[in-house]
Amino acid sequence: MDFAAPCLFGLEGLAANELKKMDAQKVIADNGKVYFSGDYDIMARTNINSRFAERVLIIVGRFGAYSFDELFEKTRALPWENWITRKDRFPVKGWSINSKLHSIPDCQKIIKKAVVERLKSKYRISWFEETGSLYSIQFSIMKDEVALMIDTSGEGLHKRGYRPASNDAPIRETLAAAMAYIAHVRGSSTVVDPMCGSGTLLIESALHAMRIAPGMNRNFISEGWNIPKETWLHERQRAIDRIVRNNDFIAHGHDIDPRCEALVKNNAKRAGVDTRIDFSIRNIKDHVSEEGSIVLCNPPYGERLLNIKEARDIYGIMGKAFDFSKESCYIISPDEEFEKLFGRKASKRRKLYNGMIKCQLYMYF
Ligand SMILES: C[S@@+](CC[C@H](N)C(=O)[O-])C[C@H]1O[C@@H](n2cnc3c(N)ncnc32)[C@H](O)[C@@H]1O
Repeated sequence: MDFAAPCLFGLEGLAANELKKMDAQKVIADNGKVYFSGDYDIMARTNINSRFAERVLIIVGRFGAYSFDELFEKTRALPWENWITRKDRFPVKGWSINSKLHSIPDCQKIIKKAVVERLKSKYRISWFEETGSLYSIQFSIMKDEVALMIDTSGEGLHKRGYRPASNDAPIRETLAAAMAYIAHVRGSSTVVDPMCGSGTLLIESALHAMRIAPGMNRNFISEGWNIPKETWLHERQRAIDRIVRNNDFIAHGHDIDPRCEALVKNNAKRAGVDTRIDFSIRNIKDHVSEEGSIVLCNPPYGERLLNIKEARDIYGIMGKAFDFSKESCYIISPDEEFEKLFGRKASKRRKLYNGMIKCQLYMYF
């Protein structure tokens, strides 16, 4: 089977590498997604283990379409019966950009009708009760190129299952995982987040350091499909066997907001890493540098939290608080003036996206 794994812009290379390590075949990184191929084992493995992909989709077909007739005929020609049985549900949703076929509701209706016609002829029935497993069909039309896919993940893979509650501006889990990876967090590392909010950077660092699969505590839509249960059991067991518990990883979280204490504690507990993470209320101006530690930080942007002036003042305070001879620092910010306000030029920078917000990861080492 062919798959596509959408990911945040900037994370394509990381996602491609991790998928290769999971034995996915024909891995190709593209803009905002990674293509690969494999079987149901790979499908389960990538869903359970990917730290950087947003979801895993089966590609049923890709073709050019300039008219609704073409869309209908080419959709009907695809082997939908390879996945969808006579009782299954198959809703259709998607998007279209810069294409002749720009009406989403019309595309949706035509694709649905074409799949129904295909299945009618294969199963020799005229009515689909749609009470069975859920095969969510997704279409994308970009510059008249149609991709028709089936979602295997359900909820986005960034939803690890440990963060039902969060503060006002949490960083996306996939991006936090990428920061931990880029910062070379290891089993022996001490990670500090001096403005940790709900603790995402600390938790993703701990999961990475202990090799705990991010999808360990959640389910996936394709677990309800008619594929052998052993596939999932086997891949979950493989993930359990890879966990490293006997290392020295430790993480310290601080925040000025006292509500974060319970958030961090509960989230870390749900993620199974609470023994590795502690929290204390602290203002960034009172930051204490720890020899050899890695600071990961997602300071306020001046959008959802604080205003721009207040956020920018904090960058200056941070610049003075960190001791670069003792700790390496990885700070993500969308502020183009960050280095000036922080008072130090980064050793290295990398463009990353927090959702749709273009940011830079400023690295000091
Ligand atoms: C963008 S949020 C961090 C979100 C976090 N990465 C998460 O995933 O939940 C910024 C955090 O900085 C904290 N903060 C703001 N001013 C601070 C200060 N002077 N000292 C310490 N923390 C501060 C806020 O309370 C907020 O939790």
